[in-house]
Amino acid sequence: MLLGARDAPEPRAAEAPPLRLSKFHAPEIVFGPDSVQEAAHAAVRLGARRPFVVTDPGLLEAGWPSDLLTHLRATGLAPELWFDVTPNPKDHEIEAGFARYVEAGCDVVLGIGGGSVMDAAKGVALLAANGGRIHDYEGIDRIEHPIPPMIMLPSTSGTGADVSQFCIVTDTDRHTKMTIMGRALVPDVSVIDPRLLTTMPDDLNAATGLDALTHGIEAFVSLAHGPLTDHHALQAISLVHANLVRTMMRPNDAAARCAMAQAALEAGLAFTNAILGATHAMSHQAGGMLDLPHGVVNGVLLPHVIRFNGAAVPERFVPIAQAMGLSDVAGAPAEEAVERVAEEVRRLGDEVGVPKGLGDLGVTDADIPRLAHLTLSDACLTTNPRPASVAEVAALFRTAM
Ligand SMILES: NC(=O)c1ccc[n+]([C@@H]2O[C@H](COP(=O)([O-])OP(=O)(O)OC[C@H]3O[C@@H](n4cnc5c(N)ncnc54)[C@H](O)[C@@H]3O)[C@@H](O)[C@H]2O)c1
Ligand SMILES: [Fe+2]
Repeated sequence: MLLGARDAPEPRAAEAPPLRLSKFHAPEIVFGPDSVQEAAHAAVRLGARRPFVVTDPGLLEAGWPSDLLTHLRATGLAPELWFDVTPNPKDHEIEAGFARYVEAGCDVVLGIGGGSVMDAAKGVALLAANGGRIHDYEGIDRIEHPIPPMIMLPSTSGTGADVSQFCIVTDTDRHTKMTIMGRALVPDVSVIDPRLLTTMPDDLNAATGLDALTHGIEAFVSLAHGPLTDHHALQAISLVHANLVRTMMRPNDAAARCAMAQAALEAGLAFTNAILGATHAMSHQAGGMLDLPHGVVNGVLLPHVIRFNGAAVPERFVPIAQAMGLSDVAGAPAEEAVERVAEEVRRLGDEVGVPKGLGDLGVTDADIPRLAHLTLSDACLTTNPRPASVAEVAALFRTAM
């Protein structure tokens, strides 16, 4: 049985929704403490000679990339290291990384870091096979040629970029984040070593844990959810709820770190296949405009979006409440589950230090019309369970201020 599993209700056969066509994308996954060296073996298997290792200055300081480089060299490979990536990776950084990849004659791409590093690695791989500018690929399935093999080693317990078909890049002209989506962006191998999580500072741990929770909740209520994604989504919700605070109280608690690594993984498997919703569509705009930590923006927005969506699909929030252990909603109307889940997400946010509103993060009322307008063209909005107009999105932003 998976770690921390809760008794999510089994749908009885008579209640199960009619099956419709579904696909499930996932990379090969290696999971467990001390698994970093497996990335070197995977690189050899994928035909690497000169692997391109993407990371950032924070990771270099934590020391994990040097472990990976040692293992790559020990298997006879000659890695090229590139680390000029900043959080919320920028279009021009990825273009510079691509130039470096070509110059060094690299083949396989490895990313060791958080979502920013992994998305930068995906961006470099995408350009390596398809050319042009990263902006050309914004939207769904615009990548034509097969891209070089990718191996990801996540260092935060949040984004799921190591298993997802997403690549999120900041457009520095428009001050927004572009969502690039497509099957080609699912990495070949995800190597998840929970030890990497132990060097995260508390605020990053909190933010990325809330990102994983948002992935679980948005995937579960998404229009594209299905039986193959639902259990991963509920499991992720349950694991974050039971373990995030524990990792903050006891940063070296190996079982809690493993549980959070599993939560991020399962949330990633759920959302890459069921896609996301309004929280992410809105958060990409605020995050891109002000270069804010993604998980923190999600943590602020999520309770408001839950209430908005709960008016359309209240019944979807009953299993979510159960996954969070909110036993008092048993037998109550579904609308109560919606409110309890929204309150519990906010309570968890308070406990881990999420600001009360977007105003605390620097968003102003004057920004809202532009943010709302941009939200409407984010690919994540297409699977939100309740259609949202510009006026409704603007109202949601105002409530979240
Ligand atoms: N592609 C996807 O599927 C997907 C999904 C969700 C979010 N994202 C994107 O991911 C990005 C956010 O990624 P993130 O929240 O993982 O953080 P991040 O990659 O932006 O990292 C933030 C900072 O933390 C440092 N850091 C990361 N791991 C560390 C560790 N173990 N020890 C010490 N320092 C560490 C980094 O050096 C960096 O300075 C956003 O751009 C977001 O849009 C992508
Ligand atoms: Fe996210």
